Amino acid sequence: MTDAIAILDFGSQTSQLIARRVREAQVYCELFPWDAPAEQVLALEPKGYILSGGPASVYEPGAPTIPAYVLNSQRPILGICYGMQALTQALGGKVDASAQREYGLAQLETLHPNPLVDRGAQPVWMSHGDRIESPPPGFSVLGRSENSPVALMGDVERGLFGLQFHPEVHHTPGGRQILQRFVIEVCQARPQWTPESIIHESVHRIRQQVGEELVISAVSGGVDSSVATAMVQKAVGEQLAAVFVDTGLLRQGEAAQVKVVLQEKLGIELITVDAVQQFMSALKGVTAPEEKRRIIGELFIRTFEEQARQIGAPRFLVQGTIYPDVVESSAPDRAKAQRIKTHHNVGGLPEKMNFTLVEPLRYLFKDEVRAVGEALGLPSEMVWRQPFPGPGLAVRCLGEITYERIERLRAADAIFTGELAAAGLLRMTAQADQTRGTAQAFAVLLPVYSVGVMGDQRTYQETVALRAVTTQDFMTADWARLPDDVLAKVANRIVNEVQGVNRVVYDITSKPPATIEWE
Ligand code: XMP
Repeated sequence: MTDAIAILDFGSQTSQLIARRVREAQVYCELFPWDAPAEQVLALEPKGYILSGGPASVYEPGAPTIPAYVLNSQRPILGICYGMQALTQALGGKVDASAQREYGLAQLETLHPNPLVDRGAQPVWMSHGDRIESPPPGFSVLGRSENSPVALMGDVERGLFGLQFHPEVHHTPGGRQILQRFVIEVCQARPQWTPESIIHESVHRIRQQVGEELVISAVSGGVDSSVATAMVQKAVGEQLAAVFVDTGLLRQGEAAQVKVVLQEKLGIELITVDAVQQFMSALKGVTAPEEKRRIIGELFIRTFEEQARQIGAPRFLVQGTIYPDVVESSAPDRAKAQRIKTHHNVGGLPEKMNFTLVEPLRYLFKDEVRAVGEALGLPSEMVWRQPFPGPGLAVRCLGEITYERIERLRAADAIFTGELAAAGLLRMTAQADQTRGTAQAFAVLLPVYSVGVMGDQRTYQETVALRAVTTQDFMTADWARLPDDVLAKVANRIVNEVQGVNRVVYDITSKPPATIEWE
C-alpha cells in the first residue's frame, strides 16, 4: 500500500492547493470533505492528517469540527488556519473570536527550533478572522507575526502542529518546504508517488476492472483524453479501440499529430472519422455561440455512438476525468457555493451513456497527468499544450462558420502561436517559467470588415483579434503584456500571409469582466 496523507477540507478555496503541494513532495494524498464517513478516510490508512482552512468561525453554531477518529488516531496532525483554530478548540486551548481580520502578507518570526520551520523571519500569507489566544496544553508557541501572537504552534512530541498562515499558496515562498517536512519528516510518509508508480498501479487496476472485455475511447487531441487512452493501451492493448472524430475545428497540425503519435508511436488502434463535411454543414448559417456548442456536442455524440456500434458495442468507455473534477463535485457545500461556474465540457461525451467508465486519471492533478503522459511516451509538445475548448475553433470564429473562414483562423492562429513560441512566450513546457509568458494565447476571427490599403489597392476584409492571457487557474486572467516587436511581427505576418484579413487588433480586457474566449 502506498503511504498516504488525508486532507480534510473545511471549505477553503485553497484546499486543492494543499493536496497539490503534498503530491509535489511525491507523497500520495486525498482530499475529503471534513464530514466524510470515517471508513472512507481510514481506508487510505493515512500516515497523518492535514486540516484545511475554511470560511467559518469555530464559535458559529454548527461550525465544522475535527472528527474523533482523527483526534484519536495517534497520527501527526497539521491544522492550517481554520484547521488550527478547530484543533485548538478541540484540545482545550482558546480561540479569540473578536480579533480583527488579518489579510495579506505578514512576517513570520520563528522563535523556537521545530521540525517544520527554520528559525528566523520569512514572509507568509495570512487570511483569517479568529486567532489563537492560548494554545492547547502540551503545545508551545513556536512563531508569531505582528497580528498573530500564535502564528505557529506545535506539540513536537505528538507531531501536532498549527499554522495561522497558508503554506499552500505561492505568496508563502517557504510553504512548500513546510508541507514537505510535515509529510516526510513528521508523518514519515515515504515519497513513493512518481509517474512510474502511478502507471504501475493504474495498469494493474485497469486490468482488474476490464478483464477480457472491449474498451472504447474518444480522443480529442486534448491532454487528458490522450493520456487516459495511452494508459489503457498499456494495460489492455488489443482490447482497446480509440475513436478520433476529425471535426475540422482543431488547430493547425493537431489532427495529424494525434494520428502520428497515438497510432504510429504508441501503437493504438485508432479509428479516424473524417467528419469535417458533416460538421461544416451542421454549422451552416449558425451564428449564436450557444447554438454552435449545442450542434457540435450533439453531432459529436452521434458520430461516436455510430462508431461504437460498428466496433461491437463495447462495455467500457475510457474517460479522462481528473482529480479536480472529482473533488469539486464532493467539496463541502460552502466551498461549492462560492465556486465560480466553470464551463461544461462541450464536445466531450455526456455522463449518461450506456458504458461503464474506466477513469485512469481520476486521482491525478493536471501536472501529474502531464508527467504521466511523458512517461508513457507522449511527446512533450502534446502533453504541455495550452488548453483548447471542446467546441474548438468554432467558438473563436465569430459569426458564420465556413470552411474558408476556419482555414483563415487556423492560419492566423498558427502564426501568432508560432511567433510566441519562437520568442519563448508560449507557456507550455515543464521547464517554462510559470510567471512569464502566456497561459493561453490564440487568434479570433471577427466578421468585421474594414478598409485597408495594400500596394495601391483598396482592401475591404475581415479582422483578426489576438487574445493572450496570463493566469494561474483560468477563473480570473489578465491580458498578457506582450512585447511590441512580437506583436508587430505577428500583425505584419498575418496581414501579409493570410488571405482575407487586413487588420489585426489586440484584446486588452481582463477576466472578469471579459471571459478568455470570445464566445
Ligand atoms: P472562459 O472563456 O470562460 O474560458 O474564460 C475559461 C477556460 O475554459 C475554456 N473553455 C472551454 N473548454 N469547452 C471546454 O472544454 C468549452 O465550451 C469551453 N469554453 C471555454 C477556455 O479555453 C479557457 O481555458
